Amino acid sequence: MERELPLLSELIKYHKENNLILSMPGNKCGKAFLRDEIGKDFAENMGFLDITEVDPLDNLQHPEGIIKKSQELLAKAYKVKSAYFMVNGSSGGNLISIFSAFNEGDEVLVERNCHKSVYNALIMKKLKVTYIEPVIDEEKDIFLPPSKEKIYNALEKSKNPKGIILTNPNYFGITYDLEEILKDLKTKGLKIIIDGAHGAHFGFSKRLPKNIWHLGDYVILSAHKTIPSLTQGGYLLVNDKSENLRFYMNALMTTSPSYLIMASLDYGRYYLEKYGEEDYDRLIDLGEEYKEKINKINGINILSSEMLKEDYDVDKSRYIVLLDKGYCGHKLLEYLRDKKIQCEMSFSRGVVLILSPINKREDFKLILKSLEELDLNTIKSIDEAEFYSISPKKMLEPFEVFNSETKEVTFEESIGKISKEALIPYPPGIPLICPGEIITKEAIKIIKEYVDNKRDVLGIENEKIKIIIEK
Ligand SMILES: Cc1ncc(COP(=O)(O)O)c(C=O)c1O
Repeated sequence: MERELPLLSELIKYHKENNLILSMPGNKCGKAFLRDEIGKDFAENMGFLDITEVDPLDNLQHPEGIIKKSQELLAKAYKVKSAYFMVNGSSGGNLISIFSAFNEGDEVLVERNCHKSVYNALIMKKLKVTYIEPVIDEEKDIFLPPSKEKIYNALEKSKNPKGIILTNPNYFGITYDLEEILKDLKTKGLKIIIDGAHGAHFGFSKRLPKNIWHLGDYVILSAHKTIPSLTQGGYLLVNDKSENLRFYMNALMTTSPSYLIMASLDYGRYYLEKYGEEDYDRLIDLGEEYKEKINKINGINILSSEMLKEDYDVDKSRYIVLLDKGYCGHKLLEYLRDKKIQCEMSFSRGVVLILSPINKREDFKLILKSLEELDLNTIKSIDEAEFYSISPKKMLEPFEVFNSETKEVTFEESIGKISKEALIPYPPGIPLICPGEIITKEAIKIIKEYVDNKRDVLGIENEKIKIIIEK
C-alpha cells in the first residue's frame, strides 16, 4: 500500500501511533470537536458534510444567508466591525489585508521577522518597507515582539509611512503590551494590521492575554492553530472601510471553499463563547501546576512572563520549554517524539508545546515523566548558533528584487552579495535574510549549520543561493 498511496498510508500510520499532539492543529486531530453533541456530530459525519454551494448553503464569495449570519456572530464574539471566514489560513488573511489596506508604492513599517505571507504581499503589492528590528532575548535565544522603542525607531527612520504590520503574539506565544502604541499610531493616521495568527483564543479567559483586536484595522487569526477548527481555517477581523476588501477576498480565495472548514470555523467561535472561559481556566490551572513540577528538574524551565522584560506576557496555554545553555532544543524535539509527544517546533534552546483544553492530567504526567527521564547529556549542543543576533543591510525593496537578474552561487561566494530570496531556516520559519538584503558571514555560518544538521532552509537549492547580478 505504501508504494501505491504514499501520503495516505503514512498519514494513517502516524494517526495509529497515537501521539500526544502538542502541535497544531487546535482541533487536536479531531478530538477537540468532541466537547459536546453538535461537535461530535460534526466530527463523526465529516465525510458526509463535504458539500458545495447548493441551496440553502449560501456562498462565501457573496454571503447572504447562513454564512453571513455566522460571520456576524463572529464579529460580535471578537467585538469588531466585521469578520470573515478564511479558507486558506492566515497566509490568505495576510495577503487580503495588505492588498486591501495599501496602494502600490506605499511605505509600510514591517517587522523583519514577520511571516512569509507578509513578504509575499509586500512583493506583489510593490510596497516600500521600513523594517522594525526584532527584540532578541540573547540569554534565552528567543525572539520577542518588537518593543515600543523599536517600533518608534522604525517610525522615525521612515519617510511617509501609510501603515504598520505587526505580529502579536509571536510564534512562541509571547505578546507585547501594544494598546497605547496602537492608539497613538492610529492618531498619526497609520493603518494597523495585526497578524494575530497564534492568538485566536485570546481574551476568552481572563488568564489568557487580552484581546486587542478592536485596535487593528485588519486582524488575522489562524483559528486552526489553537481552537477547534480544521486546518486552513482562519478569521479575518476588520474595523476599516475598504472598498476593495471583497474583491481581494474573492480573488485570493477559492470559489469552492470547503464547507467542512467553514463549519469548523463556526464551531470554533461557538466553542470559545460557550466553553472558552471554563475550559481555558481549567487548562491553565493544570498547566501552572505542572509548570512548577517541571521547573524543579535540573536544566529545564518553562518560560513565564516573570522571566521576561516588563510589558511582555506569555500565553499560558503554551509551554516554552527552555533548556540551560549548552543543550539543544532540536534534539529535545526528537527525544519527545520518541516518547510519543509531538512538539509544535524546536529552536536552538528549547521547544514550544501548544497545549489545549482537551489535555488531561495524564497528558501533563507524560510530559513531566518524559522530561524527568531525559538524560541531558544526550541532547548536548554541538555548536552554539548566533541565530538571533543578525541584522543585515537592506539594499533593494523586496519587489525590486523580484524581477532582477540573478545567478546561483555557493554559500561562500554569496557573502557580501544581495539575496534574491528570503533565506528562512525552518523552524522557526522566520527570514534570516530578506530579499534585497546583503548576505553576511554570520548568516552563512547559521545556514551551514542548519544544512549540516539536515534541517530545512527555504530559499536554498542544492546548497546554492540566488544572488542579484549588480550592474
Ligand atoms: C505569525 C504567523 N503568521 C501567519 C502564519 C500563516 O498561517 P497559516 O498557516 O494559517 O496560513 C503563520 C504560520 O505559522 C505564523 O506563524
